[in-house]
Amino acid sequence: MRVIEEPDLELTARCVLVPTMGALHGGHGTLIEAAVRRAKIEGVPSAVSIFVNPKQFNEQADFDRYPNRMADDLAMCRDAGVDIVFNPAVEVVYPPDEDVTSGIVIPEIATEPGLEDLYRPGHFAGVCQVVSRLFDLCGASAAVFGEKDWQQLGCIRAMSKQQGRDLAIIPAQTVREESGLAMSSRNLNLSDEARAQAVGISRALFAASSVRIPEQGESLMREMLGSDGIEPEYAVIRDSETLMPLADMGRETHVPCRALIAANVGGVRLIDNVPWTPTAYA
Ligand code: PAJ
Repeated sequence: MRVIEEPDLELTARCVLVPTMGALHGGHGTLIEAAVRRAKIEGVPSAVSIFVNPKQFNEQADFDRYPNRMADDLAMCRDAGVDIVFNPAVEVVYPPDEDVTSGIVIPEIATEPGLEDLYRPGHFAGVCQVVSRLFDLCGASAAVFGEKDWQQLGCIRAMSKQQGRDLAIIPAQTVREESGLAMSSRNLNLSDEARAQAVGISRALFAASSVRIPEQGESLMREMLGSDGIEPEYAVIRDSETLMPLADMGRETHVPCRALIAANVGGVRLIDNVPWTPTAYA
């Protein structure tokens, strides 16, 4: 495994890339496994980028306390058979004397749904910018993203398409702890008490996924979160592709949907989502 801090297109051209911000956990692990597998099939190197992108944080404090566990991260990548770890400095990703923002398109799904876009203004602009830049710096031919960040996955799919990139976006399912809590680097900041409370988020999502009317699914989620003492920023059922509200919330629907929750638990902002396909249970 090689760790590089500067782009090396000879090394990485046509790699399968997993962009991360480090503090790697089991969720990243499945993305990395998928990338290593795909890279072998394609006969190209697998690459993991580790870069905590200052442009996508809404609060300086969140950025400052973002966990850094580089030694563990490198060990995990090595064990997984990753070929290249790209760990650039801020000046490499955002050179002060170069405009790297031109050509960045911010798709509708990054600004319209009123979900992450509403609670984290500017966040997806930062994500699109860094991901686009990482794609260019690494010459990726495919990249793996987690369904855990459903709106982010939608943004990146839409952005790559609008940019006309010849690059496959590979989704990977959300990895959960045994309790159901979706794995996240931010879970490291949860107290024991908050961690127990946070389980209420996945519990509400799973309960809602067996309700057939979207409106009823949403009220069930709000009710369950309330009884766990969680006040969500949103707890909604949306069209899974556009993330816009359904035309008729009061009736059964046949469009693929997604149930999504964002909530602050013990001072840590958590997000999670599950597929919502009630007709499958009918
Ligand atoms: P980060 O939070 O480090 O996540 C990196 C990738 O891992 C993302 O694609 C995310 O969806 C995925 N991931 C995180 N937790 C997961 C879980 N429990 N199950 C499955 N996948 C999971 O997301 C980012 O970094 C950044 O926004 C980034 C795309 C790197 C741009 O800076």
